[in-house]
Amino acid sequence: MKNQNQVSTNKVFSSPGQGFVNILYYILFFAFGLTFGIIITFYSKSFSFNLQFTNLTFSTSSYTLSPPLSSLSSSSLSSSTSVSKTVKSRTGLQEFVKPPNVMHDMTDEELLWRASMVPKRNEFPGAEPAPKVAFMFLIKEKVSFAPLWEKFFKGNEGLYSIYVHSDPSFNQSKTESSMFRDRRIPSKVVEWGNANMIEAERRLLANALLDFSNQRFVLLSESCIPLYNFSTIYSYLMNSSEYFVEAYDLQGPVGRGRYSSLMYPPIKLDQWRKGSQWFQIDREIAIGVISDTTYFPVFQKYCKGMCYSDEHYLPTMVSTKYWERNSNRTLTWVDWSRGGPHPSKYSGSDATKDFLVKMRTGKQCSYNGHKTNVCYMFARKFLPSALDSLLRLAPQVMHIDS
Ligand SMILES: *[C@@H]1O[C@H](CO)[C@@H](O)[C@H](O)[C@H]1NC(C)=O
Ligand SMILES: *[C@@H]1O[C@H](CO)[C@@H](O)[C@H](O)[C@H]1NC(C)=O
Ligand SMILES: *[C@@H]1O[C@H](CO)[C@@H](O)[C@H](O)[C@H]1NC(C)=O
Ligand SMILES: *[C@@H]1O[C@H](CO)[C@@H](O)[C@H](O)[C@H]1NC(C)=O
Ligand SMILES: *[C@@H]1O[C@H](CO)[C@@H](O)[C@H](O)[C@H]1NC(C)=O
Repeated sequence: MKNQNQVSTNKVFSSPGQGFVNILYYILFFAFGLTFGIIITFYSKSFSFNLQFTNLTFSTSSYTLSPPLSSLSSSSLSSSTSVSKTVKSRTGLQEFVKPPNVMHDMTDEELLWRASMVPKRNEFPGAEPAPKVAFMFLIKEKVSFAPLWEKFFKGNEGLYSIYVHSDPSFNQSKTESSMFRDRRIPSKVVEWGNANMIEAERRLLANALLDFSNQRFVLLSESCIPLYNFSTIYSYLMNSSEYFVEAYDLQGPVGRGRYSSLMYPPIKLDQWRKGSQWFQIDREIAIGVISDTTYFPVFQKYCKGMCYSDEHYLPTMVSTKYWERNSNRTLTWVDWSRGGPHPSKYSGSDATKDFLVKMRTGKQCSYNGHKTNVCYMFARKFLPSALDSLLRLAPQVMHIDS
């Protein structure tokens, strides 16, 4: 077309006659004006058309436009290529099952609601990740026996996860190992014997439940130590047909005496139980605990002062709702024999080989229906001064090496 026009103009120019040339100029001028008008209309139309969608999808025309708009179009172009990239490599359930950051800005209510989700299908589609044990440290400041726990966890990556709930006023120490420092969850103040202790336990459980591969949940204090190596504790927890929440019915002032008739009818006197707060439970019970809206509000309201929620809430709740699979014992060794409100504490001179052996095998209990003398996996209460002795004895007695 263009060539043909050029050819015909050349022909016209070469022919003589001034009047004819003038007419030709008018025609050319008109044609030029018409073309110019059409082009302008076209651009303004496509311009407004693009604006309605994603600010210039026709990036080929970008070079005729002002710099800010052309940069807009190139950014929209690059984002569209990244979308096609992610479509190519399949995501599947990856994003959904990936454990979220331990630090988040969810409120307790949001966290508990989210953690209470349970898949109705039991079979995980595809290769299921190895089940993990969630070690949940409910502490004031630092994990006292961090060097011992580090040795304990070493070489077992992928089989455990750590969660730390510490006092919000505690300023993180740079000397603390990242194994614990980076695993702090959003925490609130906890007072001894107060129901906010249970709130902290539920907060730990809910955070741990967000990782679908966590199958066992162990609550630990800063004065707790492991009595066996990782592989033994892992098998003991994973292979158990029961879970471990200590629960017993106790007459007298520090047992049934702490029950209040105001707790009736949700909680009856013969359902009232006592037990250690240091539990080892599975996913089903953990979801039951964080989803409980029947018993916990009663404890918040009526279990105050000399009642001690942490010694009664979980034993009473699970004995009422989930008693079938409860072993009614805890895996955390402690000594109350000296009496008083606190159990015995142990320093460096107490941490001897004989004492550790006694805690490991000095009692009879039942495991999966069989009698055994391996009843405790953890022990408390150890003072920080016991660390050196424990580190020395760990390889020899607990088979915790390296
Ligand atoms: C197009 O750009 C304008 C101004 O840059 C912006 O306000 C508008 O949100 C954009 N529209 C779309 C769909 O991105
Ligand atoms: C943490 O640091 C703040 C200011 O840096 C200080 O006011 C506060 O007392 C510290 N808390 C503790 C428990 O040391
Ligand atoms: C763990 O301890 C047990 C004895 O309790 C021992 O038989 C086993 O070899 C130890 N495992 C490792 C990995 O050291
Ligand atoms: C459970 O016990 C069986 C047999 O006693 C053993 O083969 C298996 O490895 C154990 N499972 C775990 C997770 O330790
Ligand atoms: C645990 O205690 C409950 C009563 O609270 C009882 O029914 C159950 O049999 C006990 N389980 C074991 C293993 O002792």
